Amino acid sequence: MKMSSLQLFVSMSMVFMLVTGVHCWSKEGHIMTCQIAQSLLKPEAAEVVRHLLPPYADGDLSSLCTWPDQIRHWHKYQWTSPLHFIDTPDNDCTFEYARDCHDPHGKKNMCVAGAIQNFTSQLSHFKEGTADRRYNMTEALLFLSHFMGDIHQPMHIGYTSDRGGNSIELHWFRHKSNLHHVWDREIILTAEADYYEKDTSLLLQDIEANFTDGAWSDDISSWTHCDDLDSCPTKYADESIAIACKYGYKGVESGVTLVDDYFNSRMPIVMKRVAQGGVRLAMFLNRVLADDDQEHGIASPT
Ligand SMILES: *[C@@H]1O[C@H](CO)[C@@H](O)[C@H](O)[C@H]1NC(C)=O
Ligand SMILES: *[C@@H]1O[C@H](CO)[C@@H](O)[C@H](O)[C@H]1NC(C)=O
Ligand SMILES: *[C@@H]1O[C@H](CO)[C@@H](O)[C@H](O)[C@H]1NC(C)=O
Ligand SMILES: [Zn+2]
Repeated sequence: MKMSSLQLFVSMSMVFMLVTGVHCWSKEGHIMTCQIAQSLLKPEAAEVVRHLLPPYADGDLSSLCTWPDQIRHWHKYQWTSPLHFIDTPDNDCTFEYARDCHDPHGKKNMCVAGAIQNFTSQLSHFKEGTADRRYNMTEALLFLSHFMGDIHQPMHIGYTSDRGGNSIELHWFRHKSNLHHVWDREIILTAEADYYEKDTSLLLQDIEANFTDGAWSDDISSWTHCDDLDSCPTKYADESIAIACKYGYKGVESGVTLVDDYFNSRMPIVMKRVAQGGVRLAMFLNRVLADDDQEHGIASPT
């Protein structure tokens, strides 16, 4: 079988990731966010998404939602590396776009909130037929889908000095980890092991049940409320750093061992952020790719 260059990138960079242990909102987190979003697309938006996905994705957006993590260290895509996160001033606990949205060299807009604006705008020009032909719309879709997940991972909007918790080394139950990775992946994996037979699809069903007619069903309209697609990512980032302060960093310092009480109290927050990321990604894609009336941001969950 002849591999496309994208497939080649994906498989080679997976090897790379195994070797270096790059930390990012886990593949489980991204897959769930994208599956939730795709299930809430309106027919017109769903059609555009299917059209933009390469054939081997087989119509499944979630199969490529971790692609931006896999290529971020490749030379051609090095510019995307700062787009996965935001460093905010230590202990400040707010996000201010003008102050914080830049890469480590100070280049403006190079952060996850700026990236969401960028790729949203590229997709909306595409829909309006005014696309800049330099931009690749398949990539814009994958970047937007991925970064909407990342901006909802609270520790992706973290303190500058500890790189969003990456340098806070600790134990997660009995193995070594760090605070960033606890929120990227450990909490999800422990939840899957304890309650969902290590099966992401069972966890996803539970999350979906909770926003269709469970604990969060009354919250959907506030989650999807957005007067201006350009400024809503700022709100999502601000929510994340507030959660990072209140629940992520709270009571944690280098060298601690985190166990049941941390897991039990933080797990519901992680699951809610996965759900919010998915629901809001659907809202963005519907608004940008379908002629949506602004009131009903997502298709009825089925
Ligand atoms: C768009 O990007 C994808 C993923 O990198 C690539 O496979 C595809 O060939 C690109 N399309 C064009 C027209 O360059
Ligand atoms: C927006 O995307 C283009 C390529 O598609 C890239 O050159 C530019 O740096 C991006 N800017 C941001 C803020 O993501
Ligand atoms: C769904 O809601 C129930 C009841 O509030 C809760 O016990 C459960 O942990 C939730 N599941 C997820 C995945 O959020
Ligand atoms: Zn990422």
